[in-house]
Amino acid sequence: MIRDGGWAKEEWSSVVAIDGPAGVGKSTVARLVAKELKFLFINTGDMYRALTWKALREGVDIRKQRDVAEFLHLKMNWEFQAQDGHLKIRLDGKELGRELRSERVSKLTPTAAQWPQVRSLLRRLQRNLAGEGRAVLEGRDITTHVTPKAGLKVFLDAKLEERAKRRYRQLIEDGKRVKFDSVQENVRLRDWREKKNKIMPNRRSPGTIVMDTTHLNLHEVAAKILELYHEKARGG
Ligand code: DC
Repeated sequence: MIRDGGWAKEEWSSVVAIDGPAGVGKSTVARLVAKELKFLFINTGDMYRALTWKALREGVDIRKQRDVAEFLHLKMNWEFQAQDGHLKIRLDGKELGRELRSERVSKLTPTAAQWPQVRSLLRRLQRNLAGEGRAVLEGRDITTHVTPKAGLKVFLDAKLEERAKRRYRQLIEDGKRVKFDSVQENVRLRDWREKKNKIMPNRRSPGTIVMDTTHLNLHEVAAKILELYHEKARGG
């Protein structure tokens, strides 16, 4: 077996890496692709959110790099569990879900995610989880830093207004009472924060397929990714 960066080549070939900006629909698409392929769906944003959630609970000032680094090594006890094809995060024996999507956590996560210690630890964890193969990972730096050797690398993009519409529809479906203008403003602010904190790399990893999804629905996007994956698997 050919080992490549610690993992076998076949293992990387069955990894699908999906990146893209906030609100583009990465999670929905990654979930659909993983379900169809019977792969594990790994939402890496949830790991950054979980870290922020716990840091806030512990009263850590996430604007202070040193405090966050210390907290990371002393207090974070990651536990992961595959459930219905989705990697779930547990902290302190509690499975995390809705609390990760609160407005406060969403707003502060780009601040916690900017610190190099946080990024290198989470990237290592994510690489280990993906290293078994048969996984779909989505985030901001999967194609560039976490699994640059993935069998298929896709960058999803869409215009700000369309991303805001997708987020708005999702929030309404979840029973939230929100105004479209404020959702759009939040997406714009997130873009700005993530750019400022250098969370989204400007460069593309070689071989990454960029898809403008502005005029596609998320089922069409997932179908295109599956088509690309099967094409690659056939050696195309
Ligand atoms: O995908 P999401 O919106 O749930 O991600 C939450 C935050 O986590 C986002 O503001 C940026 C950060 N993040 C990151 O820094 N690196 C990733 N691979 C994924 C998310």
